[in-house]
Amino acid sequence: MPKITFDPNDLSFEVAEKTKILAAALRNKVDIRYGCGACQCGTCAVAVAPTECLSPMSPAEHALLDKMTLPVDGSIRLSCQTRVVSGEVKVDLSFQDKYSPDKGLF
Ligand code: FES
Repeated sequence: MPKITFDPNDLSFEVAEKTKILAAALRNKVDIRYGCGACQCGTCAVAVAPTECLSPMSPAEHALLDKMTLPVDGSIRLSCQTRVVSGEVKVDLSFQDKYSPDKGLF
């Protein structure tokens, strides 16, 4: 069963394969910023690693990250779109303190 750890608080949970990062956070009452839940707003962007444990980026997610001038190499993902498929994934929620869809990275 895949495992997901939310940093900086080091909160770890086993999740069913293909669970979305946002769903795992909400189900476990992890404080995560999000908005639309539908790949429209970019509010839910998080830093993730390793990228191989996650579902491939859809064209819509890629386009939104690119529009927000965020990296599209897989290191930043939209938590409402990204599924955990295997292994142990680290999700860095502190990224959400360094970025806003309005202002970009700061
Ligand atoms: S919550 Fe809006 S894009 Fe993910």
